[in-house]
Amino acid sequence: MSFNDEDNNEEKKSDIGSTDDANGDDLCSGCMGRRNALKWILGATATAVIGGSATVLATVKSPAPKKKRQKITAGDHLVYAIGPKSQQDIKMADLPVGQGMLAFPKGKEEHSNLIMLIHEKKSMFYKPTHLNWLPSGFVTYSAICTHMGCTVLWHPKSQRPAPYPHIYCPCHQSMFDIFHAAKVVSGPAPRPLPQLPIITNSGNEIVANGDFDGIPGPLPGGA
Ligand code: FES
Repeated sequence: MSFNDEDNNEEKKSDIGSTDDANGDDLCSGCMGRRNALKWILGATATAVIGGSATVLATVKSPAPKKKRQKITAGDHLVYAIGPKSQQDIKMADLPVGQGMLAFPKGKEEHSNLIMLIHEKKSMFYKPTHLNWLPSGFVTYSAICTHMGCTVLWHPKSQRPAPYPHIYCPCHQSMFDIFHAAKVVSGPAPRPLPQLPIITNSGNEIVANGDFDGIPGPLPGGA
C-alpha cells in the first residue's frame, strides 16, 4: 500500500478522539473543511512502516488536551506509541536500518510530543542535521506536521520529488528530507520538523537528551 492509496486508507476507520487544544494538540486543525472524512482518518491514524511496506497498525490515542506541552527532558525513555508494545521502552534492536516508527517520551504521551524515530546509515546524514544526535544512525524528529498539525508518516521508498526515504504528510503532501534536518522538499509545510536529541544507554534503550530544537507542529498564529 502506498500512502497515496486513498481507497485503502478510507477503509481504515480511526477511533481516535479529537481535541481542540490551541497549542497544537489537535491532529489537524485545518484539515476538516476539504474532503473531511479522508483527512480526518489520515490525520488521526498513526502509521508505521515495517520492512518497506506501510501498514496501519493502530491509532494513537491522545490523552486529554493540556494547556501546555510537557517538555521532553534528558533521560526520558522513548516508548512505542502504538501497537501491542505501546508504552514499552524502545531498544536499538527493535528498529533495523531502513525502518521507522512512532514513539513518545515516556510519561509525556501527548500528541504534540509524538516522535518519528528512524534508523538509517549514519553516513547518509548531512548538516544542518545535528550529527551528534544520531547514535548508531538513529534519528528522531517531531511527527507533527508544521503546516496544520497532521501526523506525518515514514515513507521508506523514493518518491518524486524526494528520491530517497523521507517523511510524508498525507494531509497536503508535504515531504521532509530526513537526511537534511527534515527540511521541506515539497508541499505547503513552512518549516522543517524539529529534531530531538537522543542517546542510547547501557541497556541499549533509546533515550532523549533534551527537548526538540524547535517548536513541534504549527506555530501559534501560523508560520
Ligand atoms: S498538515 Fe498540511 S501538509 Fe501536513
